[in-house]
Amino acid sequence: MAGVKFPQKGLPAAELKSLLHDLKSNDMDWRNYRAFSMVFRAGEDVADIVMSALGEYVFENGLSPFAFPSLLRMETEVVAMTADLLNGGETAAGNMTSGGTESIMMAVKAARDYAREKKPEIKAPELVMLRSAHPAFNKAAHFLGLKTVIVPVSDASVVDLDVYRKAFSPNTVFAVGSAFSYPHGIIDPIGEMAAIASEKGVWFHVDSCVGGFILPFMEKLGHPIPPFDFRVPGVTSMSADVHKYGYVSKGASVVLYRDADLRKYQLFVYADWSGGVYATPCISGARPGGPVAASWAVMKFLGYEGYMRLAAEAMQATKILIEGVNKIPGIFIIGKPLATTFGVGSKSLNVYAIGDKMKQRGWHIDSQHLPPSLHFTVSPMHLKVVEPCLKDLREAVQEVSAMKPEDVSGDAAIYGMIGSMPDRSQAKEITTQ
Ligand SMILES: Cc1ncc(COP(=O)(O)O)c(C=O)c1O
Repeated sequence: MAGVKFPQKGLPAAELKSLLHDLKSNDMDWRNYRAFSMVFRAGEDVADIVMSALGEYVFENGLSPFAFPSLLRMETEVVAMTADLLNGGETAAGNMTSGGTESIMMAVKAARDYAREKKPEIKAPELVMLRSAHPAFNKAAHFLGLKTVIVPVSDASVVDLDVYRKAFSPNTVFAVGSAFSYPHGIIDPIGEMAAIASEKGVWFHVDSCVGGFILPFMEKLGHPIPPFDFRVPGVTSMSADVHKYGYVSKGASVVLYRDADLRKYQLFVYADWSGGVYATPCISGARPGGPVAASWAVMKFLGYEGYMRLAAEAMQATKILIEGVNKIPGIFIIGKPLATTFGVGSKSLNVYAIGDKMKQRGWHIDSQHLPPSLHFTVSPMHLKVVEPCLKDLREAVQEVSAMKPEDVSGDAAIYGMIGSMPDRSQAKEITTQ
């Protein structure tokens, strides 16, 4: 980078600390509860536990279970607690990873290597996913040499199961459903999708990166959540992020397999290194101890009861927001989100311009396309701001309703262009890349 050189002299600690603080001045301010993505918030008591655990384990290295048996113990317990939550029974096995993407990467790698062993005739393995599934699957396929077969979803984010079935070929080694998807919070028909995969003899993964630590509690609270976990026959593996609705800081996810035999396809061992036998379960070598300790500590701190309370609060905030959006003429909720994430679309207004107006009022709401929409991921702490948020949204919509198309500028115009591109699902039923 031009102009940046390695510093000759160090800075005094106090100056450095204030510099670090100042550097954040243009960052998204998530502390005021006005952001609906990126950071999941449960409250100061949980944040305090996270900070203590991170502080306690900040330099520990999860690479060696011999040097740090406490980290191995905590990881084993976090995996076991997550398997219990997702009905994996006594047989489920897994690991902690750095996040959803790594968990997904490991599941795809395990499925690929499983197929290499069981179906050696497959030379060009394929991965079947819906357009609404997270791009971490495209990334995993790209890294691991699989071809993606993308199945379209409707504008309400619903899959046509006949089209889904046709996406499978003799080369399919991995298929995925989301519970729930990020863009619109839709729970895919996991039972039906897993049954199709199972009929074809294909590994089926449930991506519960966002949903894994809230859907089980919502179900217990009596919300109508269709079965999405290991209770569903045909579900081979799952991903669930502790750094989302588990309320831990970033760097914590769990990948789970129906049994330990399947997990072994994820592992890497090299015995001929001059440094000794090198064995790692996931992608990273050295692994930060902090996220493991924080996950263990928050699960123990909150317990089932604490997570139930937080799920109820997040659901209440979501209900108020969704009911409020439904009362604002010109905008609507996309599809039928059952949980705490949703998209807001419009047939007549430029939603990106609405997002810009919200930004001017201090809200951070991401834009999405296919179809154009604004994204809301709701945390329990949003209960504090739902009314001002709806008031500002009403005003923003009114202002945009009064705008002429030529008045739409900046980000909104650019996103608007993307949003007005033809929906590719109309052109091709299934696209491959
Ligand atoms: C449904 C879903 N899967 C996977 C991921 C990837 O997780 P990460 O960003 O932790 O790698 C996300 C991230 O938002 C997600 O929402």
